[in-house]
Order: sequence, then C-alpha cells, then structure tokens
Amino acid sequence: MTIDSAPTPPTGAPRGLVVAIDGPSSSGKSTVGAEVARRLHYRFCDTGLLYRAVAWLALARGVAPADVAGLVPLAAEITLIADSRGRLRHVQAGARDVTAEVERPEVDRAVSGYAKVPQLRAALVPRQRALAREGGIIMAGRDIGTVILPDADVKIYLNASAEERARRRAEQRRTIDAQETEQILEDLRRRDSIDSSRETAPLRSAPDAVIISTDGNSFEETVKSVLDAIRKVEGAGGGR
Ligand code: DC
Repeated sequence: MTIDSAPTPPTGAPRGLVVAIDGPSSSGKSTVGAEVARRLHYRFCDTGLLYRAVAWLALARGVAPADVAGLVPLAAEITLIADSRGRLRHVQAGARDVTAEVERPEVDRAVSGYAKVPQLRAALVPRQRALAREGGIIMAGRDIGTVILPDADVKIYLNASAEERARRRAEQRRTIDAQETEQILEDLRRRDSIDSSRETAPLRSAPDAVIISTDGNSFEETVKSVLDAIRKVEGAGGGR
C-alpha cells in the first residue's frame, strides 16, 4: 500500500467524519487515535511521522534546520504507508522503512527544531489536507484542528501532565532506569516548549476543540471519551 493514500471508502458508502486530534508529545494521540479509527472503520494518519522521518533523514545527511534549501526537498522522499486497515502508521525514507528509527531518542531530541521551520511545514500542508478530503479519517498532530483542517467535523485536544507523559514514554521504551526517565521528562518539556512557542502553527487547542485530559485515565477510558465526542457529532448529523 502506498504513499499518503490510505484506501478510500467504497462508492456510495457513508464517508465518515473528519476528526482532528492534537496534543503534546506522548499524550496518546497516536495509540488512542489508531484504536478509535479501528473501531469506527476510519482511516488514521499520525502526522508526527512525517516530521520525525524528515528529521531522521536530515540527521543522517547532516542537514541542519537552518539549511532550509537542503531541508525542504527531503520531505518529498518521505512516504507514509498504510496497513490493511488504512492506518498510516508506518513511514519510509526512499525505499527504506524507518518507522522504528524515527522513534529513537536522537530524533526525539532533534525533531522540534526541524518541525518549526515554516518552509518545511508549508511543504507538508497539501499532503495532509489531501488525505482528509474523502472524510472518514482521524488525523493526529499538533496543528491539525488549528491549521491543517480548521473545518474538521470533530476537534479533540488530548492533554496530560508532563510527568504522566514521560512515564508512558518510559514504559513504551521499557525503561526502568530513574536517570533515563528523568532525561525523558526533561526532553519532553523542552519539546513542549519549542512546539508551543514556535511562530508557525504552534501547539495549541482550537477554540472549538473538546479538551480531554488523560491523567489517571486508562487507555480504554480515553478511547471511550474520544468515541463519545465523535458519536455526539455523528448523532447530530454532522459531517459531510
Ligand atoms: O507527535 P510526535 O511526538 O511524533 O511529533 C514529533 C514532532 O513533530 C514534534 O516535535 C512536533 C512535530 N509535529 C508538528 O509540529 N506538527 C504535527 N502536525 C505533528 C508533529
């Protein structure tokens, strides 16, 4: 399955809503969003993978964030790959699957510096919008409800304290080392600060977003809150 083109719904089928999920690092956007998409038979796109893959490629090639002319063309080498359920959760750089590599700590540390480059963001806007055109999609990121899909049918902002998010990230990495967990927390805070204070498309909840705080929630509880928010709009006949 290729490039930024998850399967579209069959002709005549209800198209489904466009759902934006934004929030800081490790707030659960990707895992929760993918699970909700599975249950609703929606497509899913984790837009963070685009920025991570560009950052990974830039690091591999020694391209600094300030080298805009070197950086922007790298976006064209990145391809999102859909699984059989239409969830864009894998990413390739050229022909190489780099899904695992883009989660590495060195990418964590560098990605915000690349993601704040306005020219790179601009190059990625049309690709993200094109994916949502057919409806029936959940798109997760930082600026989906504010910039990429301001007309989304449902906007959700998932939040959690930095400590809770660092704990989840450490769990994902199977880290039990206290010093490493502390480092994860420090990195998260740094990334939050860069993502929220950048000039172009900063991390922010849209004024019409449903804000869901996931501190102390189980995964299932958060999935249910997101499903409820979507069903409310579906029930009101929202969507296209
Ligand atoms: O969600 P994540 O941690 O995988 O995102 C990685 C980086 O990409 C993060 O620093 C913010 C940036 N990003 C962004 O600026 N806009 C998006 N829509 C998605 C991610």
